[in-house]
Amino acid sequence: MPGRRAFSRLLLAGSGLAALSACSPGVARPTPSAAAATPSATASVTADPSPASPASQSADPASACPAATETPTTAPPAPAAAPPRHSLTDPASPWVVVNKHRPLAPAGYVPADLVAPRVRLATSGEAALLNSTTTAAAEKMFAAAAAAGVVITLASGYRSFNTQIATYNRWVNAEGQAAADTASARPGYSEHQTGWSFDIGDGSGRDSFTPAFANQPAAVWVKANAHLFGFVVRYPYMFHDITGYYYEPWHLRYVGVDAAGEMNARGIATLEEYFGLEAAPGYL
Ligand code: DAL
Ligand code: ZN
Repeated sequence: MPGRRAFSRLLLAGSGLAALSACSPGVARPTPSAAAATPSATASVTADPSPASPASQSADPASACPAATETPTTAPPAPAAAPPRHSLTDPASPWVVVNKHRPLAPAGYVPADLVAPRVRLATSGEAALLNSTTTAAAEKMFAAAAAAGVVITLASGYRSFNTQIATYNRWVNAEGQAAADTASARPGYSEHQTGWSFDIGDGSGRDSFTPAFANQPAAVWVKANAHLFGFVVRYPYMFHDITGYYYEPWHLRYVGVDAAGEMNARGIATLEEYFGLEAAPGYL
């Protein structure tokens, strides 16, 4: 797809914007001290200590942000860490973070509660399944969109490890591995395997799975409203340096109403930033 390659080059040229955003008030990365103030960041410290160690924080661009430079000379004792509300590593958890640094464990994970949502479908078979929690939220969201006159279709939901092998290989054969890795997860690294994610269409097929889909009513509506139902647009525009993937206005991820609402209210675009995890632009 030459169009996608051209778009990819455009995004690469502007990749510095994602780093700049780290100092804007709404997206300051949680620090260990800030972690005590927010349930979400508390989870990051207790569930995955490696990305947000104090040493790495001082080298992080976020250390130039006002919040990070206001550290008192005599630091107060660190508050006791509270337990995370949900696991960031268990694939059955709504907060599991799967990216190029965080493969699914086990790699062959299959959700125990896959069900078929009663929504408008543009797919069939296993791709028309989601886990039960995501199904319930998706049914509400699709109904709300329909009530607002916006058609949303379920274009691709659950994907098994074996299906992801085929999907990824198709990308590699068509685009080469480097380009494939900006758009399709390697087997064992896809959120689709958790049942927490799905791709949407708009029923017309127009601009499906292309950057231009962002301008279609279905994508505009979910960008504005998905958080009300517990979803985030997982791979937002210009955050590929953090997420590892170019903009996917069609890919939604369930994290729950509280987390999605907080991300929306605080202007936090990615799960990596919300949970204080390291950026995952490429495979380790
Ligand atoms: N397109 C997303 C990154 C996936 O393959 O899971
Ligand atoms: Zn997807």
